[in-house]
Amino acid sequence: MQKKSTNTVWHHATINREDRQSLNGHKSVILWFTGLSGAGKSTLANEVEALLYEKGKRTYVLDGDNIRQGLCGDLTFSDEDRVENIRRIGEVAKLMVDAGLLTLTAFISPFRAERQRVRDLVPAGDFIEVYCRCDLSVCEERDVKGLYKKARAGEISQFTGVSSTYEEPENAEVIVDTDKHSLQECAQQVIDYLVLKGIV
Ligand code: ADX
Repeated sequence: MQKKSTNTVWHHATINREDRQSLNGHKSVILWFTGLSGAGKSTLANEVEALLYEKGKRTYVLDGDNIRQGLCGDLTFSDEDRVENIRRIGEVAKLMVDAGLLTLTAFISPFRAERQRVRDLVPAGDFIEVYCRCDLSVCEERDVKGLYKKARAGEISQFTGVSSTYEEPENAEVIVDTDKHSLQECAQQVIDYLVLKGIV
């Protein structure tokens, strides 16, 4: 992004992230769910959020389909717009971490470089990449939204996995095989990681 807002100075808040974390009684991090459409990112992020909520943790889910109705409603699925989509979400997630929240994001986020860019926005350890691994054939078979069918028929262009690339994570903190394990098992795997790291 070319920065065009000149003559601006960062104002330091009176209450900071540490204050909010201590009020909440837990750390704030980004849980970044990535994977193909239909891999179960949103479902899993919402399930993990529900488990955290039950434990009294402060959370928020940013979801691709929802965010593209508002904040990113002006963006297409071209490579360039997907880059901008993830840049905006990265900045929003960073603000939410500053607000003291366990921030869960569910975006295809197909490019490694963009995921790395978000990782670099927050201190080491505060970006947890959760790869929702699911065979393309399974996503396509599920086809919950009927989009794969349309993509194969040529009615949707630049569809991830069909006519647009997905770059698998190389060093994800958590890999959940959503085509092999139940939703509960996958959610527990994420919670176990957070407990292991002393985050919740
Ligand atoms: S991303 O690639 O920019 O990260 P994002 O997660 O925001 O994508 O949005 C993906 C959702 O948009 C999919 O779950 C699907 O419902 C819908 N969608 C519509 N067109 C496409 C397309 N061409 N490629 C992928 N997803 C699409």
